[in-house]
Amino acid sequence: MLSKIGLIGGGYIGGVLAQEIAQRGLAREVGLVDPAPFVNPKDPPDRQEVTKKQSVSIGKTLDISEGLPTIRRDVRLVGSKDYSAIKGAELIINTAGVPRKARPDGSYPSREELLATNLRVTGQVAEGIKQNCPDAIIISIANPLDAIVYTLDKRLGPSKNKLMGMAGQLDSGRYCYFVADAADVSVENVSALVLGGHGDTMVPVRSSCLIAGIPVSKFVDDDTLKSIETRTRKAGGEVVGLLGFGSAFVSPAWAALEMAEAIIHDKRKILPVCAKLDGEYGVDGLFVGVPAILGRNGMEKVIELDLTAEEKKAFEHSVAAVRKTCDEVDEMLEKL
Ligand code: APR
Repeated sequence: MLSKIGLIGGGYIGGVLAQEIAQRGLAREVGLVDPAPFVNPKDPPDRQEVTKKQSVSIGKTLDISEGLPTIRRDVRLVGSKDYSAIKGAELIINTAGVPRKARPDGSYPSREELLATNLRVTGQVAEGIKQNCPDAIIISIANPLDAIVYTLDKRLGPSKNKLMGMAGQLDSGRYCYFVADAADVSVENVSALVLGGHGDTMVPVRSSCLIAGIPVSKFVDDDTLKSIETRTRKAGGEVVGLLGFGSAFVSPAWAALEMAEAIIHDKRKILPVCAKLDGEYGVDGLFVGVPAILGRNGMEKVIELDLTAEEKKAFEHSVAAVRKTCDEVDEMLEKL
């Protein structure tokens, strides 16, 4: 058990994280920071006064706290609109960001505008961590994943083991779920890795996909596997399309907690992690999804796989996409 976990962002994923951390007893204290709801300067003054008194993070932490006697857990949950909530945290999970949604005038922000907004938010996240828990291990979930983790690294410059992104565990979970469903076997029997960037170029590594230790091809035919791999690459969008109000929030929270538990309990568990590469896989200075050992020191070691020629090509293609995003981030950060 840690003494304190800090959660940045108390939206859909942040809420599930706070609830699960309490339920699983992972820390004595949970600090949740979220400035929402934001005051709209165009609102009448009395409406602005009401909004100022509201707080998503205080509301959510109070709701969970009031359930603690029922689930018999002693956890202190602290919510705040400012970053003092994460003071002294040993582990941070970051979900702060602004989703793509219509402005009050009905227009939508462009991809670049949205990225610039989220890079600004990430600047505040980095400053909050620097001021309140500079030594914390950080797991970042916020999208665009590759760009946000890269920005946190630029802003904070932590040692390589202390900062990582969560994407591969979620994408691999999706791959495993679809395979288990197609093979009609327990999800517990399926293991697989999805590597590379967190986007259309991600690489479901078929050579790593095993059912009870047996190659997946023994159970699922080639065409079905191809369509599963395509569905895995688009799985985030599939949920967005169905929900109609946001993106997946339970499976990403559970995936981040799988990483957090490996760290908290010093499991030395190998999981797909968006980790900084210093020469591994022939990549330098970029955060890319790779298998890594997670233990008490965070991301303890990157594991280099022997990919097939086709997988290697797909991985390189994905790394090129991550590099392009990071070049764009570099340009934007200069202007912010
Ligand atoms: N500091 C802290 N929190 C912030 C800040 C900030 N500067 N700016 C915005 N937030 C908060 C928002 O108020 C919101 O409550 O971040 C929260 C994000 O929550 P949601 O919009 O509900 O998004 P969620 O579904 O939780 O996903 C969070 O993870 O998977 C990704 O694409 C997803 O980037 C998104 C992130």
